[in-house]
Order: sequence, then C-alpha cells, then structure tokens
Amino acid sequence: MGHDLKLIAGQFRTDGDPVDIVPVTVGHINDTYIVTTTAGICSPAAPGWGTRGTTPEGGGATRYLLQRINQIVFRQPPRVMANIVRITEHIRAKMAKTDPELGSRQLTVIATHDGGGYYTDADGNFWRMYNFIKHAVTYDTPRSAELAREAARMFGWFQRMLIDLPGPPLYDTIPGFHDTPRRFDYFQEILKTDVRNRAAKARTEIDFLFRNAAICGVLPGLAERGEIPIRSTHNDTKINNVMLDERTDKGVCVIDLDTVMPNLSVHDFGDLVRTATCPAAEDECDLSKIAVDISLFDALAQGFAEETGVFLTPTEKNHLVFGGILITFEQFIRFLTDYLAGDVYYKVHREDHNLDRSRTQMKLVQSMLKQEETMNGLVERAYADAPESTT
Ligand SMILES: Nc1ncnc2c1ncn2[C@@H]1O[C@H](COP(=O)(O)OP(=O)(O)O)[C@@H](O)[C@H]1O
Ligand SMILES: [Mg+2]
Repeated sequence: MGHDLKLIAGQFRTDGDPVDIVPVTVGHINDTYIVTTTAGICSPAAPGWGTRGTTPEGGGATRYLLQRINQIVFRQPPRVMANIVRITEHIRAKMAKTDPELGSRQLTVIATHDGGGYYTDADGNFWRMYNFIKHAVTYDTPRSAELAREAARMFGWFQRMLIDLPGPPLYDTIPGFHDTPRRFDYFQEILKTDVRNRAAKARTEIDFLFRNAAICGVLPGLAERGEIPIRSTHNDTKINNVMLDERTDKGVCVIDLDTVMPNLSVHDFGDLVRTATCPAAEDECDLSKIAVDISLFDALAQGFAEETGVFLTPTEKNHLVFGGILITFEQFIRFLTDYLAGDVYYKVHREDHNLDRSRTQMKLVQSMLKQEETMNGLVERAYADAPESTT
C-alpha cells in the first residue's frame, strides 16, 4: 500500500502517459494493476524487446499490466525477470513465424526507459510491466470439460514452445519446489516436536502419510538415474493461468511465469489433475464432495496429449497419473505439516483450517489411487489418439 503507482508506471516505455491505474483482485501472489495510458502521442518503438505488441486499442487509450513481484515467495526477482524475458522473447519469436496473429497476443515484457526488464522503487520493491492481453479471460474453476481440455492443451503447448529454448537452463526461482523427500523430512521434524500438541487430532492423516511415504521418492529416483528428463516447465498450472479468447474460449496464452524453471513435465500435469478435476473447494469440510471427476480427468489427458504427444518420452507418459497422485500427496504433506507447526505458512480463517485442507488432499489422493487404472487407460488412449506431429 501507499505506492506511488503513477510514478512507478511512468518508469516504463508505454505508449502515452499513464492516466488511470486500477487494482486487479484476481490472483493471490503478486499485486496486479491495470494501467491505462493516453496513447495519442506514440513514442517511437525502441529496437529489441519491450515495446512490441502494444499497439493502441482505439479510443486513444492503451492498457498495460503492472505487477509488484512478491518477494516473500520469490527471493531473487532479477532472476525471475531474466527467465521471463528469455521465455517471452523465445515464444514470440517462434510464433511470429508460425502464427503471427496469436503471436501478437502473447505476454511481452515492457522495458523500462533505460532498457531493463524491471524497476526497483525506493523501498526495494520490484515492479514489472506487461502488455495487456485483450479480449481474453481467465476462469478459476473448470466450468466444463471443454475448458479443462483447452487449459491442459495450453500448458502442454507451453512446454512444447520451450523445448528448444537456447542457452543455459533457466534459474530455479524457488529452489527445491518439488523436492518431495525434503518436504517429507521436514514433516517428520515438525512431528517430532509437535509444538502445538496437534498430532493426536491428526492421527488418521499422519498414519496415511507414513503408509504412503514411498510416493515421495519415485520421481527424484527416476530423475537421478536419468530416466526422466528435466524440462522448462510452468510449475503453477492452475487453470486461471491460461488466458482464453473471450468469444471462442480458445487458448490465447499462458501467464504467471514466475515459477517457470527446470522441472518435470509430469509435475505440471499433476498439478492440473490436483486443481482441475474436483470442483469442490480446497478446504471443503464435506469430504463426500471430494473425488476426481473422471470426465474432467479425461479432458485434461486429451488436451495435454494433443500438444505433448510429439515429445514426451514413454516414461513420462507412464507417470502422468502418478504425477497427479504425487503433487496432491505433496500438497497434503504441506498442509498437514503447517497444521502441526501452528499455521505458520498458509493463512487460516478458522480452527483446524489446515487440517481440513490436508483432509481434502488426502481424500483426493485416495480417489486417485482407487481410479488409477482407469486414469492410466484414459492417458494411454489420449496419447494413442494424439497427433504424431504438430507445427
Ligand atoms: N497481461 C495480462 N493481460 C490481461 N490480464 C492479465 C494479464 N496478466 C494477468 N492478468 C490477469 O490478472 C490475474 C492475476 O495475474 P497473475 O499473473 O496470474 O498473478 P498471480 O501470480 O497473483 O496469480 C490473471 O488471472 C489474469 O486474469
Ligand atoms: Mg495467477
């Protein structure tokens, strides 16, 4: 609060001067604002990245998206931005050749006046600006199987776009993000001290965790032995991080790129399965509402396969369902750990809130384990039907 938003927005190479800045309330990580400028007097586009794709929209106004990077989650914003500039440039350069129209609707980092990718204010906050993606919408929940399919297709498309990203691997913007064995070790440490005497109330959940702890080591084992490749992946594959055309509901672009880093493809699919196959809330108390909707899962598998069929290895395809189990199990561990630790990471709004959250995740894992065979069959069919090549 209390940021001089006009001064901050004025640091970037916008067409026209910022005249109106309003906060966006969707999204929980970064502070987001829509900036409108008077684009009557267009400044000449500077060479290189940072100003393309920002043509005036008519009516003399142009919009941009201004974001303050959350430094509690992202400790090294310059690295985040270095990744994002590389990613967005690469995607737009590829799209310019294959689909210029859609290419012009991709995220573009707007440069600061001195050509940087971000602005640091006097208080040490990091700010970035993007072009505003026009005529596109995001949805928080999969309102239909078609929407789930399209979101999954876009995350698969995103991985495909980054397959030939030149240069060194991207920075790890959150080190150890899916280091599940480490999260299991941390859980055991917290359980030992049980500072709030809560373990007794979570006996069933703790037992379930220990009984299924072998889940944690499977993917790190495959990665260490080189049996599954590390790729540039999104790592926050909620469906509201895909923008869809407001008229056609077809995917336009993938946003929220802070967590794009080297990781496993199956993690991205897994987080989609965790977040998009059960419409109930993450803290739902009525556990009878928690289950994988198999038709939504089928849609996710089909959408993801459509784009990734051409490059995923057989081992990756064989572990997609496991990815869902793993990511959900990992989230279960994180909620349960935070409950035992005394709610230090996730904000709570009622007693036992984190325990309730851990229970939904546990139920979801159980639902996946029960339907594992069916889900694997659907994945197999989706890849059998997927195109052999794509442009
Ligand atoms: N470039 C953009 N153009 C238009 N809307 C955007 C753009 N980037 C983000 N949004 C909107 O703002 C919301 C929050 O942005 P996001 O980058 O996902 O932040 P968070 O990390 O807080 O989720 C998105 O769900 C989307 O609706
Ligand atoms: Mg988001």
